[in-house]
Amino acid sequence: MCGIVGYLGRQEAAPLVLEGLTRLEHRGYDSAGVAVLGRGGLKVAKQAGRVRDLTDVLPKRFTGTVGIGHTRWATHGPATDANAHPHADESGTVAVVHNGILDNAAGLRAELADAGVTLASDTDTEVLAHLVARSDADTLEGKVRDALARVVGTYGLAVVHADFPDRIVVARNGSPLIIGVGDKEMFVASDLAAIVRHTTTVAMLDDGELATVTASGFTTMRHTDLSATGKSASQVDVDASAYDAGDHESFMHKEMLEQPQTARAVLRGRLDDRFGTAHLGGLDMDARAMRAVRRVKILGCGSAYYVGQMGAALIEELARIPADAEAASEFRYRDPVIEPDTLYVAVSQSGETIDTLLAVQEIRRKGGRCVGLVNVVGSAIARECDGGIYLHAGPEVAVASTKALTNMFLGFALLALQLGRVRDLSIADGKRLIAGLERLPEQIAEILAGEADLVEVAHSLAEAESLFFIGRVRGYPAAREGAQKFKEISYRHAEAYPTSELKHGPLALISPDVPTVALVPADELTERNVAALHEISARSGPLVVVTHEGVDLGEVRARRIVVPKNEPELDPILLTIPLQLLAYHAAQHLGHDIDKPRNLAKSVTVE
Ligand code: F6R
Repeated sequence: MCGIVGYLGRQEAAPLVLEGLTRLEHRGYDSAGVAVLGRGGLKVAKQAGRVRDLTDVLPKRFTGTVGIGHTRWATHGPATDANAHPHADESGTVAVVHNGILDNAAGLRAELADAGVTLASDTDTEVLAHLVARSDADTLEGKVRDALARVVGTYGLAVVHADFPDRIVVARNGSPLIIGVGDKEMFVASDLAAIVRHTTTVAMLDDGELATVTASGFTTMRHTDLSATGKSASQVDVDASAYDAGDHESFMHKEMLEQPQTARAVLRGRLDDRFGTAHLGGLDMDARAMRAVRRVKILGCGSAYYVGQMGAALIEELARIPADAEAASEFRYRDPVIEPDTLYVAVSQSGETIDTLLAVQEIRRKGGRCVGLVNVVGSAIARECDGGIYLHAGPEVAVASTKALTNMFLGFALLALQLGRVRDLSIADGKRLIAGLERLPEQIAEILAGEADLVEVAHSLAEAESLFFIGRVRGYPAAREGAQKFKEISYRHAEAYPTSELKHGPLALISPDVPTVALVPADELTERNVAALHEISARSGPLVVVTHEGVDLGEVRARRIVVPKNEPELDPILLTIPLQLLAYHAAQHLGHDIDKPRNLAKSVTVE
C-alpha cells in the first residue's frame, strides 16, 4: 500500500527520498512522487508507474535539502500522474503526502470547489494541501492542526511549506508514521524499511500526534491543541540486513529459508518442560483468567485467517475449548455478539491490517478481551490489544507471507498448550507437545533442504490453468493456505476444498488438465483421504500428494512429497512448508515478480 519517506539534513533530499521509496516498493504501489524544498522554492515531480521511471525523468535542478516522497496505491481515482502524491495547493506553496483515507473528502472537495479552488486531482489527499494553504494560522503546525480539524478518516501524513523551509510537519491517525534520528539529519517514513539503512534511532507517532521535524531534531504534540507530548527517540533492535535479499533471488526465497531460525526465535524462552506448559508473559492472564475462558474466537485476514483456523483446531484439541476463526474483514460488519467469557485473538504479521484493527476496536468497544499474535512490535494492532504474543519472525518483506505465518502457527501452539495445561491437558501430553515443538525447526529445515526435488513438480503444476488443494480437518486450513500462496504469486486459479466435499460438487471439474494437491498425513483420516484420491485418479486427475513416510496410497498414481512426522496436532505447519516451495517455483517458472505480485500489497491499510 502507500508509502511515505521524508528527509531533512545537509544532503540532497531527492536521491535519499527516492532510495527510501524503492525500499517500500514491495508494499505495492502504482505511482510515485517527490517534493523538495530548496533555493528555488517548492518543486514537485510525480507520475504513474515505478520509482525508477520517476528517477529517470527528474529535472536536473530538482535540488533541496528538505524532501518528502510517496508511493501511491490508488483508492480515490485511478493511477494517473495527477492523482500521484505529493499534492500541492494552487499556488504551489504547500505539498502533502498522505497514507490512509479521508472519509469526508467528497464534501470538502465540493466546499473547496464552491470557494473557487480548482482541484487538480480526484484524490482525497488534495483537500489537505488546500486546507493547509487556506489556514491563517501563523505556524505550519497551526495550519496543519486547522486542516486536520476539518477531516474525518485515517492518515499518516507529511507536509512541507515554502514559507517554513526548515521543517516537515508529520501527523498520524490510524496509519503509521516514524521519525528517524540521524547525525545532523532526520528522516520520516511510514515503515522502518525505508530508513533502516540510515538510522535505527526512531520515534513512532501515536494516533492523534503531530510532530515538527527539523534537521536538528523533533518535537511531538497533540494535533488538537498542539500541547506537547514530549516523545523521545529510542533504539530499535533490528538488523538492517533483514531488509536485504542478499544472495537470494527474492525476499520470499530468503524468508522461506529463514524459517528454521525464526521458528526457534518464537519458541525461545517460552517452553517449560518441567511442567509441560508454555510461558506467555505478554498475555497478561493468570491461570484463573485462562480458566474462565469458555470460547476462543480468532480474527485475521487472508493467510492470517487460514493460520487462525489451524490455531482454532489446536486450541480445541489441546485445551478442549470451543474455538473458531473468522475473517476479520467480515466480522465487524455483522454486528457480532461480544461475549465476556470469550477470548478474542487478533492475528497479523504487519499489525496494520485495517480490517483486523477495526475488528479489535469493535471487540474492545463492547468490553471484550482481545489479545494479539503480531509480528511487528509496537504496531497498531499490538498496541490496541489487551496483551499478546510477539512472533519474533523478523521483518517480512515479500508480500507472500511465509516465516511470519509459520510463527503464527507456533504462537497458537504455545497458546493452546498454556490454555490446555490450566485445564485438562495432562503434564505428559504437555511434554509430548513440547518435544514436538522442539523438533519442528529441524524438520522444517529438512523439508527446505529438499527444495530441488520439488522444482519439477512445481513446474508441472504451473502449466495448469486451474488446480485444487484438498485436505481434511487439520489439513484443510493448510490446503487453504497452499491455494492462497499458489494463486497470489503464480496467478493460477487455485481452489481449496475439504477432501470430504469433493464428491458434493467439485469432482465434476476433475480432468487430466486439473491437478490436485492433496494433503494426506498419517492420521485417523488417512484411509478416508486415500479413498478420495482413488476417485480423483479414476477420473484421470493428476495428483501431487503431500504425505508421511509409510502412507499406503494403493493403486493411486501420484507424485509423492514426503514430510517428516511430528505430533499429529503439529502436522499442519509441516504440510504447509512444501506448499510454499511449490507456489514459489511455479511463480518463478512463469516469470513473475515474486516479491511484488500484481494487485497485491504487503499491508492492507484500507478497508
Ligand atoms: C498472503 C498474505 C496476506 C496476509 C493478509 C493479512 O501471503 O500475506 O493474505 O496474510 O493480508 O496480513 P497481516 O498478517 O499483515 O494482517
